[in-house]
Amino acid sequence: MLVTNKDLMVPARRNGYAIGAFNVQNLESMLAIVEAAAEEKSPAIIQITPSVIKYAGLAYISNLVKTAAQLAPVPVTMHLDHGGDFDTAASCVGAGFTSVMIDGSFLKFDENVALTKRVVRIAHQKGVSVEAELGKLAGVEERSVEEKEDILTDPKAAVKFVEKTGVDALAVAIGTSHGAYKFKSEAKLDLKRLEMIGEKVSIPLVLHGASSVPEWIVEKANKYGAALSGAKGIPEDEYGKAISLGIAKINIDTDLRLAFIATIREVLKTSPKEFDPRKILGPAKEAMKEVAKGKMRLFGSSGKA
Ligand code: G3H
Ligand code: 13P
Ligand code: ZN
Repeated sequence: MLVTNKDLMVPARRNGYAIGAFNVQNLESMLAIVEAAAEEKSPAIIQITPSVIKYAGLAYISNLVKTAAQLAPVPVTMHLDHGGDFDTAASCVGAGFTSVMIDGSFLKFDENVALTKRVVRIAHQKGVSVEAELGKLAGVEERSVEEKEDILTDPKAAVKFVEKTGVDALAVAIGTSHGAYKFKSEAKLDLKRLEMIGEKVSIPLVLHGASSVPEWIVEKANKYGAALSGAKGIPEDEYGKAISLGIAKINIDTDLRLAFIATIREVLKTSPKEFDPRKILGPAKEAMKEVAKGKMRLFGSSGKA
Protein backbone atom coordinates (compact mmCIF):
# COMPACT_ATOMS: atom_id res chain seq x y z
CA MET A 1 0.00 0.00 0.00
CA LEU A 2 1.11 3.52 -0.87
CA VAL A 3 1.57 5.81 2.17
CA THR A 4 3.49 9.02 2.95
CA ASN A 5 6.92 9.37 4.54
CA LYS A 6 5.31 11.13 7.50
CA ASP A 7 3.06 8.09 8.11
CA LEU A 8 6.20 5.94 8.44
CA MET A 9 8.71 8.29 10.06
CA VAL A 10 6.68 9.66 12.95
CA PRO A 11 6.05 6.23 14.57
CA ALA A 12 9.66 5.29 13.78
CA ARG A 13 11.08 8.27 15.67
CA ARG A 14 8.64 7.77 18.53
CA ASN A 15 9.49 4.08 18.88
CA GLY A 16 13.26 4.17 18.27
CA TYR A 17 13.73 2.63 14.84
CA ALA A 18 14.37 4.03 11.35
CA ILE A 19 12.90 3.48 7.90
CA GLY A 20 15.35 2.62 5.13
CA ALA A 21 15.07 4.97 2.17
CA PHE A 22 16.38 3.14 -0.84
CA ASN A 23 17.30 4.74 -4.16
CA VAL A 24 16.06 2.92 -7.27
CA GLN A 25 16.73 3.53 -10.94
CA ASN A 26 14.97 0.78 -12.86
CA LEU A 27 12.67 -2.25 -12.66
CA GLU A 28 15.22 -4.54 -11.01
CA SER A 29 16.23 -2.15 -8.22
CA MET A 30 12.59 -1.32 -7.56
CA LEU A 31 11.65 -5.01 -7.31
CA ALA A 32 14.63 -5.64 -5.02
CA ILE A 33 13.31 -3.12 -2.49
CA VAL A 34 9.64 -4.12 -2.49
CA GLU A 35 10.52 -7.82 -2.30
CA ALA A 36 12.94 -7.11 0.58
CA ALA A 37 10.26 -5.11 2.41
CA ALA A 38 7.65 -7.84 1.92
CA GLU A 39 10.02 -10.58 3.11
CA GLU A 40 11.11 -8.56 6.16
CA LYS A 41 7.56 -7.35 6.89
CA SER A 42 9.09 -3.89 6.92
CA PRO A 43 7.84 -0.52 5.71
CA ALA A 44 10.11 1.05 3.09
CA ILE A 45 10.74 4.36 1.36
CA ILE A 46 11.44 4.10 -2.35
CA GLN A 47 13.20 7.19 -3.56
CA ILE A 48 14.26 8.51 -6.92
CA THR A 49 16.52 11.42 -7.76
CA PRO A 50 16.13 14.06 -10.47
CA SER A 51 18.88 12.29 -12.44
CA VAL A 52 16.78 9.10 -12.45
CA ILE A 53 13.81 11.13 -13.73
CA LYS A 54 16.09 12.39 -16.50
CA TYR A 55 17.32 8.85 -17.25
CA ALA A 56 13.99 7.00 -17.20
CA GLY A 57 11.36 9.71 -17.73
CA LEU A 58 8.93 10.86 -15.02
CA ALA A 59 5.94 8.93 -16.41
CA TYR A 60 7.80 5.61 -16.64
CA ILE A 61 9.54 5.77 -13.28
CA SER A 62 6.62 7.20 -11.31
CA ASN A 63 4.18 4.62 -12.65
CA LEU A 64 6.66 1.84 -11.95
CA VAL A 65 7.10 2.90 -8.32
CA LYS A 66 3.38 3.61 -7.88
CA THR A 67 2.47 0.14 -9.15
CA ALA A 68 5.05 -1.52 -6.91
CA ALA A 69 3.86 0.40 -3.86
CA GLN A 70 0.19 -0.29 -4.53
CA LEU A 71 0.82 -4.02 -4.99
CA ALA A 72 3.16 -4.36 -2.00
CA PRO A 73 1.74 -6.15 1.06
CA VAL A 74 3.57 -3.64 3.30
CA PRO A 75 3.47 0.19 3.50
CA VAL A 76 5.72 1.79 0.88
CA THR A 77 6.23 5.43 -0.07
CA MET A 78 7.18 7.17 -3.28
CA HIS A 79 9.69 9.89 -2.48
CA LEU A 80 11.64 12.46 -4.51
CA ASP A 81 15.24 12.49 -3.23
CA HIS A 82 17.24 15.75 -3.52
CA GLY A 83 14.67 17.73 -5.49
CA GLY A 84 16.77 20.68 -6.63
CA ASP A 85 14.12 23.28 -7.46
CA PHE A 86 10.46 24.18 -7.01
CA ASP A 87 9.36 22.96 -10.46
CA THR A 88 10.83 19.47 -9.97
CA ALA A 89 9.13 19.12 -6.60
CA ALA A 90 5.84 20.43 -8.03
CA SER A 91 5.93 18.02 -10.98
CA CYS A 92 6.50 15.09 -8.61
CA VAL A 93 3.59 16.19 -6.39
CA GLY A 94 1.52 16.30 -9.59
CA ALA A 95 2.73 12.83 -10.63
CA GLY A 96 1.45 11.26 -7.42
CA PHE A 97 4.55 11.15 -5.21
CA THR A 98 3.61 10.85 -1.54
CA SER A 99 6.71 12.69 -0.35
CA VAL A 100 9.24 15.13 -1.78
CA MET A 101 12.59 16.43 -0.65
CA ILE A 102 13.47 20.00 -1.51
CA ASP A 103 17.21 20.36 -1.19
CA GLY A 104 18.07 24.02 -0.64
CA SER A 105 21.18 23.15 1.35
CA PHE A 106 23.36 25.03 -1.12
CA LEU A 107 21.38 28.27 -0.56
CA LYS A 108 21.69 30.91 2.16
CA PHE A 109 19.51 30.19 5.23
CA ASP A 110 16.74 32.67 4.30
CA GLU A 111 16.63 31.50 0.68
CA ASN A 112 16.48 27.85 1.80
CA VAL A 113 13.57 28.77 4.13
CA ALA A 114 11.72 30.61 1.34
CA LEU A 115 12.12 27.78 -1.19
CA THR A 116 11.16 25.11 1.34
CA LYS A 117 8.07 27.07 2.42
CA ARG A 118 6.85 27.31 -1.19
CA VAL A 119 7.18 23.54 -1.60
CA VAL A 120 5.53 22.83 1.77
CA ARG A 121 2.55 24.98 0.74
CA ILE A 122 1.78 23.06 -2.47
CA ALA A 123 2.72 19.63 -1.08
CA HIS A 124 0.67 19.84 2.12
CA GLN A 125 -2.40 20.88 0.10
CA LYS A 126 -2.25 17.39 -1.41
CA GLY A 127 -1.25 15.54 1.75
CA VAL A 128 2.33 15.04 0.49
CA SER A 129 5.15 15.07 3.07
CA VAL A 130 8.19 17.31 2.70
CA GLU A 131 11.82 16.76 3.69
CA ALA A 132 14.33 19.61 3.59
CA GLU A 133 18.04 19.87 4.35
CA LEU A 134 20.09 22.21 6.47
CA GLY A 135 23.87 21.91 6.35
CA LYS A 136 25.77 20.36 3.47
CA LEU A 137 26.51 16.74 2.62
CA ALA A 138 30.26 16.99 2.35
CA GLY A 139 33.19 15.26 4.00
CA VAL A 140 34.74 17.25 6.85
CA GLU A 141 38.09 15.47 7.12
CA GLU A 142 41.03 17.82 6.77
CA ARG A 143 38.80 20.92 7.05
CA SER A 144 39.36 23.93 9.29
CA VAL A 145 37.05 24.60 12.27
CA GLU A 146 35.35 27.44 10.32
CA GLU A 147 34.83 25.24 7.26
CA LYS A 148 33.34 22.48 9.40
CA GLU A 149 30.92 24.92 11.03
CA ASP A 150 29.82 26.07 7.60
CA ILE A 151 29.18 22.48 6.42
CA LEU A 152 27.63 20.82 9.49
CA THR A 153 24.09 21.57 10.72
CA ASP A 154 23.87 24.20 13.44
CA PRO A 155 21.38 22.97 16.12
CA LYS A 156 19.96 26.46 16.81
CA ALA A 157 19.48 27.16 13.11
CA ALA A 158 17.76 23.77 12.77
CA VAL A 159 15.11 24.77 15.33
CA LYS A 160 14.48 28.06 13.53
CA PHE A 161 14.36 26.36 10.14
CA VAL A 162 11.76 23.79 11.20
CA GLU A 163 9.58 26.45 12.87
CA LYS A 164 9.69 28.76 9.87
CA THR A 165 9.10 26.15 7.16
CA GLY A 166 6.71 23.59 8.65
CA VAL A 167 8.65 20.69 7.08
CA ASP A 168 7.87 17.10 8.09
CA ALA A 169 11.48 15.86 8.23
CA LEU A 170 14.91 17.44 8.37
CA ALA A 171 18.06 16.06 6.75
CA VAL A 172 21.08 16.94 8.87
CA ALA A 173 24.77 17.17 8.05
CA ILE A 174 26.83 15.40 10.71
CA GLY A 175 29.89 14.36 8.70
CA THR A 176 28.50 11.92 6.14
CA SER A 177 28.78 12.36 2.39
CA HIS A 178 27.38 10.57 -0.67
CA GLY A 179 29.19 7.81 -2.53
CA ALA A 180 31.72 5.05 -1.80
CA TYR A 181 34.63 7.18 -0.54
CA LYS A 182 33.38 8.85 2.62
CA PHE A 183 36.52 8.83 4.75
CA LYS A 184 40.27 8.64 4.14
CA SER A 185 41.12 7.85 7.74
CA GLU A 186 38.87 6.94 10.67
CA ALA A 187 35.14 7.00 9.91
CA LYS A 188 33.45 9.49 12.23
CA LEU A 189 29.99 10.97 12.68
CA ASP A 190 29.39 14.08 14.78
CA LEU A 191 26.98 12.36 17.18
CA LYS A 192 27.34 15.12 19.77
CA ARG A 193 25.92 17.57 17.25
CA LEU A 194 23.16 15.11 16.34
CA GLU A 195 22.27 14.79 20.02
CA MET A 196 21.95 18.58 20.34
CA ILE A 197 19.75 18.74 17.23
CA GLY A 198 17.63 15.78 18.39
CA GLU A 199 17.02 17.37 21.81
CA LYS A 200 15.71 20.57 20.20
CA VAL A 201 13.94 19.29 17.08
CA SER A 202 11.13 16.81 17.55
CA ILE A 203 10.29 16.01 13.90
CA PRO A 204 11.97 12.95 12.32
CA LEU A 205 15.61 13.53 11.33
CA VAL A 206 17.16 12.08 8.17
CA LEU A 207 20.64 10.66 7.64
CA HIS A 208 21.91 10.96 4.07
CA GLY A 209 25.12 9.39 2.81
CA ALA A 210 24.58 6.44 5.14
CA SER A 211 25.97 3.51 3.13
CA SER A 212 28.38 1.31 5.05
CA VAL A 213 30.29 0.21 1.91
CA PRO A 214 30.74 -3.39 3.16
CA GLU A 215 34.27 -4.65 2.58
CA TRP A 216 33.08 -8.02 1.31
CA ILE A 217 31.06 -6.41 -1.47
CA VAL A 218 33.94 -4.17 -2.51
CA GLU A 219 36.26 -7.21 -2.50
CA LYS A 220 33.81 -9.20 -4.62
CA ALA A 221 33.50 -6.33 -7.12
CA ASN A 222 37.29 -5.95 -7.27
CA LYS A 223 37.77 -9.71 -7.68
CA TYR A 224 35.69 -9.58 -10.85
CA GLY A 225 37.37 -6.55 -12.34
CA ALA A 226 36.21 -3.41 -10.52
CA ALA A 227 38.72 -0.79 -9.36
CA LEU A 228 37.30 0.39 -6.05
CA SER A 229 40.22 0.39 -3.67
CA GLY A 230 40.00 2.84 -0.77
CA ALA A 231 36.19 2.75 -0.64
CA LYS A 232 34.96 3.34 2.93
CA GLY A 233 31.55 3.98 4.52
CA ILE A 234 29.75 4.41 7.83
CA PRO A 235 30.50 1.66 10.41
CA GLU A 236 27.29 -0.32 10.89
CA ASP A 237 27.29 0.14 14.65
CA GLU A 238 26.77 3.90 14.16
CA TYR A 239 23.25 3.31 12.83
CA GLY A 240 21.80 2.35 16.22
CA LYS A 241 23.46 5.33 17.92
CA ALA A 242 22.10 7.74 15.28
CA ILE A 243 18.60 6.25 15.58
CA SER A 244 18.63 6.66 19.36
CA LEU A 245 19.38 10.38 18.84
CA GLY A 246 16.44 11.07 16.49
CA ILE A 247 17.28 9.69 13.03
CA ALA A 248 14.12 8.08 11.62
CA LYS A 249 14.98 7.81 7.89
CA ILE A 250 18.29 6.43 6.60
CA ASN A 251 19.24 6.89 2.94
CA ILE A 252 21.01 4.07 1.14
CA ASP A 253 22.06 4.16 -2.50
CA THR A 254 25.76 3.26 -2.80
CA ASP A 255 25.53 -0.12 -1.01
CA LEU A 256 22.71 -1.18 -3.35
CA ARG A 257 24.66 -0.12 -6.42
CA LEU A 258 27.78 -1.92 -5.23
CA ALA A 259 25.89 -5.17 -4.59
CA PHE A 260 24.18 -4.98 -7.99
CA ILE A 261 27.33 -4.25 -9.94
CA ALA A 262 29.52 -6.79 -8.08
CA THR A 263 27.04 -9.54 -9.01
CA ILE A 264 26.74 -8.43 -12.63
CA ARG A 265 30.53 -8.56 -12.87
CA GLU A 266 30.57 -12.00 -11.26
CA VAL A 267 27.94 -13.44 -13.61
CA LEU A 268 29.57 -12.00 -16.72
CA LYS A 269 32.96 -13.36 -15.68
CA THR A 270 31.84 -16.81 -14.53
CA SER A 271 29.18 -17.42 -17.22
CA PRO A 272 30.71 -16.03 -20.42
CA LYS A 273 28.17 -17.82 -22.60
CA GLU A 274 25.21 -16.13 -20.90
CA PHE A 275 23.42 -13.48 -22.91
CA ASP A 276 19.91 -13.49 -21.46
CA PRO A 277 19.62 -10.14 -19.62
CA ARG A 278 17.26 -11.71 -17.06
CA LYS A 279 19.89 -14.27 -16.08
CA ILE A 280 22.40 -11.45 -15.48
CA LEU A 281 20.13 -8.84 -13.91
CA GLY A 282 18.07 -11.39 -11.91
CA PRO A 283 20.98 -12.46 -9.64
CA ALA A 284 22.01 -8.78 -9.33
CA LYS A 285 18.50 -7.96 -8.12
CA GLU A 286 18.73 -10.78 -5.55
CA ALA A 287 22.06 -9.43 -4.27
CA MET A 288 20.56 -5.97 -3.92
CA LYS A 289 17.56 -7.43 -2.10
CA GLU A 290 19.81 -9.13 0.47
CA VAL A 291 21.58 -5.84 1.19
CA ALA A 292 18.24 -4.06 1.64
CA LYS A 293 16.99 -6.80 3.98
CA GLY A 294 20.16 -6.49 6.07
CA LYS A 295 19.60 -2.73 6.43
CA MET A 296 15.97 -3.22 7.48
CA ARG A 297 17.15 -5.53 10.27
CA LEU A 298 19.89 -3.11 11.35
CA PHE A 299 17.50 -0.13 11.32
CA GLY A 300 14.94 -2.04 13.40
CA SER A 301 12.15 -1.70 10.82
CA SER A 302 11.82 -5.46 10.18
CA GLY A 303 8.52 -6.72 11.54
CA LYS A 304 7.12 -3.16 11.86
CA ALA A 305 4.82 -3.33 8.80
O1 G3H B 1 21.94 11.41 -3.40
C1 G3H B 1 21.65 10.40 -4.00
C2 G3H B 1 22.47 9.58 -4.82
O2 G3H B 1 23.36 8.75 -4.17
C3 G3H B 1 22.97 10.20 -6.09
O3 G3H B 1 22.07 9.73 -6.97
O4 G3H B 1 23.28 9.51 -9.14
O5 G3H B 1 20.80 9.22 -8.94
O6 G3H B 1 21.80 11.50 -8.73
P1 G3H B 1 22.02 10.03 -8.53
P1 13P C 1 24.96 6.81 0.00
O1 13P C 1 25.76 7.29 -1.17
O2 13P C 1 25.80 6.73 1.23
O3 13P C 1 24.26 5.52 -0.27
O4 13P C 1 23.83 7.91 0.31
C1 13P C 1 22.63 7.92 -0.40
C2 13P C 1 21.82 9.13 -0.17
O5 13P C 1 22.02 9.92 0.74
C3 13P C 1 20.73 9.38 -1.12
O6 13P C 1 20.06 10.57 -0.87
ZN1 ZN D 1 21.30 12.13 -0.10
